[in-house]
Amino acid sequence: MTKKKRVFSGIQPSGNIHLGNYLGAITQWVASQDAYDNIFCIVDLHAITVPYEPQSLLAKTRELAGLYLACGIDPQKSAIFVQSHVREHTELTWLLNCLTPLGWLERMTQYKSKAQKQESVGTGLLDYPVLMAADILLYDTNLVPVGEDQKQHVELARDISQRVNFLFGDIFVVPEVVIRQSGARIMGFDNPEQKMSKSDRGQFHAVNLLDDPKLVRKTIMRAVTDSGSETRFAEAGAGVLNLLTIFEILSGWERPRIEAHFEGKGYGFLKKEVAEIVLAALEPIQARYRTYADDPAELDRILKQGADSVRPRATATANRVKTAMGFVLPT
Ligand code: TYM
Repeated sequence: MTKKKRVFSGIQPSGNIHLGNYLGAITQWVASQDAYDNIFCIVDLHAITVPYEPQSLLAKTRELAGLYLACGIDPQKSAIFVQSHVREHTELTWLLNCLTPLGWLERMTQYKSKAQKQESVGTGLLDYPVLMAADILLYDTNLVPVGEDQKQHVELARDISQRVNFLFGDIFVVPEVVIRQSGARIMGFDNPEQKMSKSDRGQFHAVNLLDDPKLVRKTIMRAVTDSGSETRFAEAGAGVLNLLTIFEILSGWERPRIEAHFEGKGYGFLKKEVAEIVLAALEPIQARYRTYADDPAELDRILKQGADSVRPRATATANRVKTAMGFVLPT
């Protein structure tokens, strides 16, 4: 039997988890569960790279764990764990820091745009992609399913792995990014020129997975579109394309069927249909989420089980790197 490929991905427990995170990342993860050996991480160490509230980090970490499960990540098939529960993530980050040219980090587009928004930029914000490389490389990851905005970071992890392999011998598996063809960049409902984002935007910017159904409907019905009536994928403006894309992923329909369904019906009908299909997707997620939210002990058990199952691999990789780099390992 051939060994299953390893998948690793993660989400930061900051802000609210929205439809972009769900469609760009989580739906890919759920679909890959049987075919691959999966590790899904709650990357709490990444969430402290910009100013944050400790109470919020605590609450959002548990909330995200509940959402992973509610969205269909099955702990029998995939390891779910909290990044800070496996110390090797921070340890490997330091080792990789010393091997990563500063210029590689300074050209990261997400760093440049996030740094612009901060009064004072913490070193962690610049170093964030090295921590992400450590996450990926610790587990001999083959595939990293993410949205479009993380592509550059996964490419950096590839560059770092190749550099370390060149300098110290074959240590790391070189990972590949996996991005869905449609839905890798879900746009804001209030501004379809900007990607949907967790950081605070206007009230009708995003649909969050735990939003009240009335708000979900309102946000989608108010979605900004152009003033035309085009509902074909190739010709649609950004706002309509975003709505069509969301419908495409959630319905699983082929494009010709979708185009026939919406032809000549106007944008009001399109929005109504998108609102319905989004609400139908969120309803079972919210119901399952409540059962996990009501049972924090079970959640903690699953997170412990996840960390315990991945830790031996992380320790083995960290030891492999340290040995190659000339460290004396403790006896
Ligand atoms: P984060 O928490 O910002 O986002 C989590 C995932 O959601 C995707 N995403 C989107 N996809 C489509 N449309 C959007 N509008 C949209 N917004 C976000 C992101 O691309 C991501 O896949 N650094 C990462 C987390 C991370 C990680 C890792 C990922 C840490 N270590 C190792 C993969 C492997 C982040 O901040 O994602």
